Amino acid sequence: MSPRRIPVDSTVIAPRPGATRRLHLHAAGVSVVLDVTDGRIPAIAHWGAELGELGPAGLDAVCEAAVDPVPHNAVDVPVRSGLLPQQSDGWIGRPGLSGSRPDGSGWVPRLVTGGIELDGHPLSRAHTETGAATVRFALADEEQGLEVDLEVQLLPTGLLRLRAALTNTGATPYALDELTLALPVPAEAEELLDFAGRWTRERTPQRRDFTVGTHLRENRRGRTGADAAHVLHAGQTGFGFRDGEVWGVHTAFSGNHRHLAEQISTGHRVLGGGELLLPGEVRIDPGAQYRGPWLYASYGEGLDAVASRFHRHLRAREHHVDRRRPVTLNVWEAVYFDHDLARLTDLADRAAALGVERYVLDDGWFGSRRDDSSGLGDWVVSREVWPDGLGPLIDHVTERSMEFGLWVEPEMVSEDSEVARAHPEWILGPSPAALPLESRHQQVLNLTIPEAFAHVRDQMMALLDEYDIGSLKWDHNRDLLEAATRSTGRAAMHEQTLAAYRLMDELRAAHPGLEIESCSSGGARVDLAVLERTDRVWVSDCIDPLERQQMNRWTAQLIPLELMGSHIASGRSHTTGRLHTLSFRAHSALFGHLGIEWDLAEASEEELAELRAWIDLYRERRELLFRGDLVRADRGESPLWLQGVISPERDEALFSLSAVGRTATSQDAHLRFPGLDPSATYRLRPLLIGERPSNLIPPPWLERALEEDGLALPGAVLVRSGLTAPLLDPEQGLLFSLVRETDPAPVP
Ligand code: GLA
Repeated sequence: MSPRRIPVDSTVIAPRPGATRRLHLHAAGVSVVLDVTDGRIPAIAHWGAELGELGPAGLDAVCEAAVDPVPHNAVDVPVRSGLLPQQSDGWIGRPGLSGSRPDGSGWVPRLVTGGIELDGHPLSRAHTETGAATVRFALADEEQGLEVDLEVQLLPTGLLRLRAALTNTGATPYALDELTLALPVPAEAEELLDFAGRWTRERTPQRRDFTVGTHLRENRRGRTGADAAHVLHAGQTGFGFRDGEVWGVHTAFSGNHRHLAEQISTGHRVLGGGELLLPGEVRIDPGAQYRGPWLYASYGEGLDAVASRFHRHLRAREHHVDRRRPVTLNVWEAVYFDHDLARLTDLADRAAALGVERYVLDDGWFGSRRDDSSGLGDWVVSREVWPDGLGPLIDHVTERSMEFGLWVEPEMVSEDSEVARAHPEWILGPSPAALPLESRHQQVLNLTIPEAFAHVRDQMMALLDEYDIGSLKWDHNRDLLEAATRSTGRAAMHEQTLAAYRLMDELRAAHPGLEIESCSSGGARVDLAVLERTDRVWVSDCIDPLERQQMNRWTAQLIPLELMGSHIASGRSHTTGRLHTLSFRAHSALFGHLGIEWDLAEASEEELAELRAWIDLYRERRELLFRGDLVRADRGESPLWLQGVISPERDEALFSLSAVGRTATSQDAHLRFPGLDPSATYRLRPLLIGERPSNLIPPPWLERALEEDGLALPGAVLVRSGLTAPLLDPEQGLLFSLVRETDPAPVP
């Protein structure tokens, strides 16, 4: 592709090489000091704990203190790791900008800073101190005809984000290989934590030492990936949820992308990320521009602090979801492809009786889609299974005060479909003669072909126009292999990703209020770019609560609980075969956007009564769950996981204790409830719903709390000295509600 020609923004003032500019941005406990010494490209002199008002002298001191000594036998000036690292600054690690012109030139840019804008106004002062702000740096290499618009934002949450746009001001096309932004982290960051995973096992944590070399997480799947790095953290040795300085980055892009942690032999360490471009994919014609995705960067003491900046940022979105996230029933694990109106209306009746508020019809309603081998791309209601259309089911659902949701997979196409037969050239593939390997018996529709895009958009639009559909479950069930336009053989991955975003945007613009759930074989599309246009993610196709304990715990490292689809499934897990009590299934699903994915016709009266009680609890507590702060206790190797949600005023909290393995026969680590106010008194009440957890042996404090109306406990005991842990069988859980009993401490 050739990126669109975009006029260069004339508001960024013309380059004045040589000027020194220093900026201190600070918000919500984070300071970022940006240094443009002598007009070189901006470097970060500090990104971390709040430094307070520095004044010009203090700001100079931070920048000067960040300069390294010059060792023997090295470049003769201090190495500078700019936000776009380059060799002309002495950086011998991975370059930030890499590309070339047809004659081979242009591969070693020498960018310098020209104009700087602060919140839209040209900046002329040498020293600037401000709160949350947007800074735009106009970088240029005039000789080589390259300009970069580098945008750095410190958000009110203390979350930092950066992106860069490259304009080709030269006379020949510029083939861009890579545009990766990099943020320095200090030498104290000795350990890395990021994520791997696979289908039904998303977001498996992995830790390693931060050593010399590059820890490079490349994604070539054309979707975020079940094995995505998710958030790549570097931190002090042994950092946990609550302790240790931690710096984390997230590349907000749903196509091919990369995250990296690099240490060069000088000891310099950076965290970075950007889009991963395929060969020849981005050729920037003279005057045209390529814009890379946002790289988010979150700093905090402990992983909870890092996560909370992401959560607050998402919660501050204009279109963020209502806290009364509707209890959802998804029919997938109940009926799979067996679409029978009588069975589905019966399921709707049972759901409504339980207090369900949204009913989602999953795969199998369209075209020839009677199993997963055909029909994708023909988004027309199947008259074979739905002779009167979806109207009768939707009416049945909405008459019972539930909203209707529908499964779609707009980017995909089955070879066995009308659209593929009519337009084989609309399938992504390496050449007119060849197609990629099928995956889940399907291929990908080339949305960069305007007619293919219009086909799927119009069919989706027609459905949304005809039916009362409140939400879409938007699936994406395969990796994109050999993603090229067949007629030309040119890579189409970059444009395909942008086209998918555009499709979501157009549907939402035409149908305000339409919610979209991002699903991709479960949780393979969870990132902050897709979340700009979606309202929830399906964490995983594995609903086994033991597995979900881990997946939900780490999905929450990036997104708040209200955006995590979290269902109660049947007693025997469909993906692992494990059996679990209803209490543990519901207990594990409660900390998320609650749903049911279970054939309720098979549930006993007792189970339905218990399910109803869990749904009532969720409805009672969702306001707290979805506005409160998530805290996860550090408990070493203990199989008793303790997490909670605490109201911002710290007057109310809900904690869950989950046995993910066998507890010790005698003493486990004390239960310390992080995040509560140590100076307050709280009434702690254990909440028992359904069966009592098997083999629960309560310590005396818990026995008393169970017998009486809870227990009043000083916050200092809860937070600092802790309570002895109960014994209980694996895969059992306990909930604790905590309510402040005293008035908040007066402000001194
Ligand atoms: C994917 C989703 C499932 C379900 C099926 C339908 O696997 O993750 O939840 O919607 O597709 O085919």
